[in-house]
Amino acid sequence: MSKLRFGICGLGFMGRSHFARLRENPRAEVVAVCDQDERRRGGDWRDALGNLDFMPGQGGRVSLAGVAAYATPDELIADANVDAVLITLPTPLHADVAVAALQAGKQVLCEKPMATRVGACDRMIRAAQASGKTLMVAQCIRFWPQYEMIKRCVDEGRIGAVQFMTLRRLGSPPTYSAGNWLLDGRQSGGALLDLHVHDVDFAHYLLGAPESIFARGTRGPSGDFDHVVATWGYPQGRYVALEGGWALAAPWTFDMEIAVHGEHGTLGWALSRGRDVLLRTSGDKTEPIPCDGDALQHEQDYFIECVQSGRPVARCTPFSSRMSIVLAWLERRAIQTGRVVRVSERLRATWGR
Ligand SMILES: NC(=O)c1ccc[n+]([C@@H]2O[C@H](COP(=O)([O-])OP(=O)(O)OC[C@H]3O[C@@H](n4cnc5c(N)ncnc54)[C@H](O)[C@@H]3O)[C@@H](O)[C@H]2O)c1
Repeated sequence: MSKLRFGICGLGFMGRSHFARLRENPRAEVVAVCDQDERRRGGDWRDALGNLDFMPGQGGRVSLAGVAAYATPDELIADANVDAVLITLPTPLHADVAVAALQAGKQVLCEKPMATRVGACDRMIRAAQASGKTLMVAQCIRFWPQYEMIKRCVDEGRIGAVQFMTLRRLGSPPTYSAGNWLLDGRQSGGALLDLHVHDVDFAHYLLGAPESIFARGTRGPSGDFDHVVATWGYPQGRYVALEGGWALAAPWTFDMEIAVHGEHGTLGWALSRGRDVLLRTSGDKTEPIPCDGDALQHEQDYFIECVQSGRPVARCTPFSSRMSIVLAWLERRAIQTGRVVRVSERLRATWGR
């Protein structure tokens, strides 16, 4: 099988993190990059970026010999050597670049959030349907080894029917982004749509769309909601509690955490607690479940596999990423109205598409 030839649009935190893995992937090749910043597209990556060390031991000056370097996404999309466009640009650019790439016949892997507006998600989905090419949103938590393991254990019934789940993701304001776009809520949608959306996505991926949503939020440095607490209601009194944001005073060590409680036990993990998922069942037994691997690698491998086999991206459909944006907006409505928001039957019936 020939290698899938990637063009990466955006060489900030996520572009570099993906680049480092794609370079090691025997089924992929990076043939083009694009960034408006001349230094970055020339391989000078000495500035430190991001809230996680996604590139341990890498960075600095990178050799891009043999890789075409462009200043604009349009030029990269026009490059006939590029099979797949990886979009790691600021969120407001996702939809236009994805649509242009799909219309040019490219496969598209786009960073999360899909977009900050549902209408933009719809444009992306329509372009993918019209082109017949693959569109996948890089929901890395669905591919994070510990979250993958928790989903597998829940699906296998190891804790029985889920009664409640808690998801947390907290840090201090991100100050690294190009032109500080992350801290401009009009561009990023605040922590609600940029950071907390990871847990919104994982919650409905695991348990489906809720019946109701209640939420509180605080506006922070982005001008939008930078800290959110939400509860989602499910049938039979089951619920999900979510807390996320980047409003904590800096420097605050970023952490993410999940606990899923079922009728026969609890599954849990936190980034700060190490590698193992813990499974505790009612017989007082704690079973550490080792989890290895790398989320971005898993996500890239899955995308490549789907493109090369011609199979749909069933594990992470564009429609399910759109659902995450819809649910985040319903949380916003709950915060703004102070009321419980009912999730319509019609919307819930579309879950799983
Ligand atoms: N999966 C995750 O966990 C995760 C983590 C962080 C960010 N993200 C998402 O990844 C995307 C990128 O975020 P980031 O943190 O890498 O941002 P960033 O600011 O570090 O990088 C963006 C890059 O795009 C370049 N750029 C901006 N406008 C451009 C244009 N018009 N043409 C060409 N280049 C342009 C910038 O120069 C910069 O190098 C965002 O959608 C963000 O929400 C995902």
